[in-house]
Amino acid sequence: MSSSGQFIKTEATRSLVAVKFKHVTKTYHLYRNDRVRFASTFFPHIKYDEVNANNDLSFTINRGESVAFLGSNGAGKSTALKIITGVTTPTSGTAEVHGRVSALLDLTAGFDAQLTGRENLKLRARLWGLSEPEIADLLPEITDFAAIGKYIDQPMRTYSAGMRARLGFGFASSLKPDILILDEVLAVGDRDFAKKSLARMQDIMSRDGVTLLFVTHSLSSAQKFCKRALVMYRGSLKFDGPIDKGISFYKKIARLPRSS
Ligand SMILES: Nc1ncnc2c1ncn2[C@@H]1O[C@H](COP(=O)(O)OP(=O)(O)OP(=O)(O)O)[C@@H](O)[C@H]1O
Ligand SMILES: [Mg+2]
Repeated sequence: MSSSGQFIKTEATRSLVAVKFKHVTKTYHLYRNDRVRFASTFFPHIKYDEVNANNDLSFTINRGESVAFLGSNGAGKSTALKIITGVTTPTSGTAEVHGRVSALLDLTAGFDAQLTGRENLKLRARLWGLSEPEIADLLPEITDFAAIGKYIDQPMRTYSAGMRARLGFGFASSLKPDILILDEVLAVGDRDFAKKSLARMQDIMSRDGVTLLFVTHSLSSAQKFCKRALVMYRGSLKFDGPIDKGISFYKKIARLPRSS
């Protein structure tokens, strides 16, 4: 897919801004099936439908803000966060990110099922740029938090979904990111784990200058952690303001028909 969008990434600067979207649009092409999609690499004129997962999004998030992304299924929340993490690029517009991002987007993504939990953690930590001694320090803390026990040395294909999620959350939240992205992570795991996760989020948020971007369908968690809400509807930003008003706004538009 051709792309004229821009992704600009810098270290955390002393500047105020953590994330800035300028007219960001992300368009996906939908083909009839995978064979047609494959054929389209050779025959660019093959027909497809287009979806604007993000449509002309503009917003600025300053360092230290905690922002909830609200919106119904398919509104474009995860797409926006994927652009911020650099997993995907804008089709047009500019996305700027200043600082190190630790993201928990898709709890099953990124882990290799054939490797053990420990091996996976080491790999991720190296990718994040930690040194071997730093990794050695971090591992017990993560496995402890995730309450994985001796499974840490078993291949991850033997883990339950909750165990994978706990390890992912334990890792992402043990780093010291400038920007922490959480996409529906509290929805997994049992009550005990949810409690521990909340405590950890509070701890992270109490650090100076950490920016939290939080996607959740739990309006009470959004209220608890975020001062500001961005409400999305079918790819567009419909509201940007204080969390209370954002929640009321979202409740109103959530009652709208999804297609018209
Ligand atoms: N890789 C992709 N290919 C094609 N379409 C996609 C792709 N990823 C997302 N979409 C479409 O883009 C739109 C926005 O998806 P997105 O995952 O950002 O929504 P969301 O707000 O995170 O929804 P949810 O609350 O269900 O997680 C949806 O219509 C979705 O089907
Ligand atoms: Mg999503």
